[in-house]
Amino acid sequence: MSPSFQLDGRPVPFVPGQTVGAALVASGRTSWRTTRHEGRPRGIFCGIGVCFDCLLTVDGVPDQRACQVLAREQLDVSTPEGENP
Ligand code: FES
Repeated sequence: MSPSFQLDGRPVPFVPGQTVGAALVASGRTSWRTTRHEGRPRGIFCGIGVCFDCLLTVDGVPDQRACQVLAREQLDVSTPEGENP
């Protein structure tokens, strides 16, 4: 059984060494927030920490770049949708 972290209360499996963003893409999720003005979907774009398109809340800390946070067990990740259902 592969390790997993929680995204909006649901388990997301990951391979050790994967970032949160890579695990989300591997699970089939390509976007997890929308732009402020036009509501366009955003997820991984640059993948190297430059564009800030992949922001998530990680363990209660907002605006964390999913492409820069290593996935680990017990990580509590939430999307803007999950924070404002
Ligand atoms: S995908 Fe660009 S900062 Fe994460």
